[in-house]
Amino acid sequence: MLNSYVDKTKRSKDLYKRAKRVLPAGVSYAIRYFEPYPFYTARAEGSKLYDVDGNEYIDFWLGHTALILGHSPPAVVEAVKRQLENGTHYGTSHELEVELAEQVVKMVPSAEMVRFTNSGTEANMYATRLARAFTSRSRIAKFEGGWHGGYDALHVSVKHPFDIPESAGLTAGALQDTIVLPFNDIHSVRNRLKKEEVACILVEPVLGAGGGIPAEKEFLKGLKELCDERGILLIFDEVITGFRLAPGGGQQYYSVTPDITVFGKILGGGFPIGAFCGRKEIMERIDTLVYERPQYSFHGGTFTANPISTTAGLSTLKLLEDGQLINKLNHVGGKIREKLREIFETKGVHVQVTGTGSLFNTHFTKEKVTDARSASRADKQKQINYHLNLITNGVFFLPAHTGALSTAHSEADIEKLFLETDEYAKQCKRL
Ligand SMILES: Cc1ncc(COP(=O)(O)O)c(C=O)c1O
Repeated sequence: MLNSYVDKTKRSKDLYKRAKRVLPAGVSYAIRYFEPYPFYTARAEGSKLYDVDGNEYIDFWLGHTALILGHSPPAVVEAVKRQLENGTHYGTSHELEVELAEQVVKMVPSAEMVRFTNSGTEANMYATRLARAFTSRSRIAKFEGGWHGGYDALHVSVKHPFDIPESAGLTAGALQDTIVLPFNDIHSVRNRLKKEEVACILVEPVLGAGGGIPAEKEFLKGLKELCDERGILLIFDEVITGFRLAPGGGQQYYSVTPDITVFGKILGGGFPIGAFCGRKEIMERIDTLVYERPQYSFHGGTFTANPISTTAGLSTLKLLEDGQLINKLNHVGGKIREKLREIFETKGVHVQVTGTGSLFNTHFTKEKVTDARSASRADKQKQINYHLNLITNGVFFLPAHTGALSTAHSEADIEKLFLETDEYAKQCKRL
């Protein structure tokens, strides 16, 4: 299987050799590397990626799940072309940022006011600072397997083994105020926080990098109750689930309204963005006209509310607003999870299919997967082999990562996923 990948990707192999000299690991983000080397993309359109050797891949990775309308959707491309004529970056206030903030407020239950950033990492960083400023508490809590970006205070217990530092260079000081909690286990969360004063609890409604594992509704409701009882701010990291599970994101999907919400990915319509939003009384802490130093919570950045990202995001959200496209995607997502389960089951391969809405993932294990710890006990190599097999046959998942659907995927694309999965499941059985 690796041999046929290498046969098909000769130009990528050469590029990888060049890349390794100037980019550590030959990539711009560690997770984009996979064995034996990643293919290099030449262009993308709709549901497809095309590499420098001319191979075509049906893309279920979708730019880290950001591209819910597929690659280069016409409405977004048109909006961006128009904006290019009017300036690429202002560094001043402009109407598009107001319109996009209004659109977010209209769609998202918890949003009364919004601030934009350039990435999900930044948005989580500023949201954490805001929660600390608002509550005058230092400690914060996150979940095992939760990925909120590379901000030091949140870069802990993301990957198995959960007790080893995620990176060199993270100081004890940066992490000393972070408490790690078990996902989908409200009883243990209550116990762990019994004697703690925390500013916020950060949670992904669906653990994305942690395995595409949905929170149970009762768990999120329990978190909300606990936060309300204890004056803790509940932060939903909706960088993946935002504008995907429902027009109003995971909070609408689960009917649980957090205090602060963090966005990224889909909000930028294929361009870099992030945002955090919440109730006016909380967001006002950023308002330097209301709070003076040292009471206000700083947020800013050169490229914040860049007009290209804001116009792309606005045209994307307008297409998602009425929920029709999202409902359809969720329906297809359900069918995919069902069919993948059936394929592996009939071939006698033990696989747990996780996900919800238009997100799905596969874990090669007999055991039910409800958190990142149970996911970590699955056979990761088998999952990587499955994905590499798909890649070699023209279906792209970033190996060992959650897959996502876009409105650009056709029935034929999905049939191809089933066909190639079936082929792999047959091989699995023979192994
Ligand atoms: C849930 C979640 N939060 C935060 C981030 C970080 O966002 P970014 O990569 O834009 O910094 C990610 C990225 O994958 C994510 O999945």
